[in-house]
Amino acid sequence: MDKLLYLQASPLIERSYSISAADAFVKAYQKINPSHIIQTMNLFDMELPAFDGFTLAARYAIMHGTDPSETEKSAWRAVEKVIEEFTGADKYVMAVPMWNFGLPYKLKHYLDVVVQSGYTFAYSPEEGFSGLITGKPVFIAYARGGAYPPGSEFESYDMQVPYLEHVLGFMGFTDIRRIIVEPTVSDIESLTLLQEKAALRAEEMAGFF
Ligand SMILES: Cc1cc2nc3c(=O)[nH]c(=O)nc-3n(C[C@H](O)[C@H](O)[C@H](O)COP(=O)(O)O)c2cc1C
Repeated sequence: MDKLLYLQASPLIERSYSISAADAFVKAYQKINPSHIIQTMNLFDMELPAFDGFTLAARYAIMHGTDPSETEKSAWRAVEKVIEEFTGADKYVMAVPMWNFGLPYKLKHYLDVVVQSGYTFAYSPEEGFSGLITGKPVFIAYARGGAYPPGSEFESYDMQVPYLEHVLGFMGFTDIRRIIVEPTVSDIESLTLLQEKAALRAEEMAGFF
């Protein structure tokens, strides 16, 4: 039975445009695949492990084959739990707002926890880097206040889509599907239309996921 992990990176929930589009996708997906498990997590409700000195010391102790202390071990175990939850899914849906041209800090924190050598990517001198999460699709609903269309003078301001998809690619994702809801700073009428169009497109895309 497939498990779909749905990560929400907006704290707004009801008023979030990325969540509204991703919700439409997940709802349509669930209708088509009623037996699949959907796990929804809002990153703003999660206690992510701090990536502090103990965690880093544990990581380097493991990398260098030395024995970590009990405190370091328990810090690393907390990191492993988040990674296991992430890698245990078969499919992924993400709702991602643009904050200061990039990602909300909670999603960056989550990535800092799950992007780990030996867990989600590997390195060897012969083969270089290789992603370990392969053959799994991800659907991402992005939202941003402004508009950053390809070819426009604002395209280069967008460090949300290129950054997230670069990191996902680094972990092995190749099947990355997206919709972009923009500009969400607009009048109510345009926003309602934008939201409806995004939901329809998301529902369509759920049929091929
Ligand atoms: C802290 C913060 C920073 C933001 N930075 C940007 C930005 O750099 N560029 C932009 O176009 N919109 C920016 N916005 C607007 C959001 O991208 C916009 O409200 C979007 O709809 C957020 O996604 P959501 O509706 O799913 O929460 C920012 C909003 C917040 C709260």
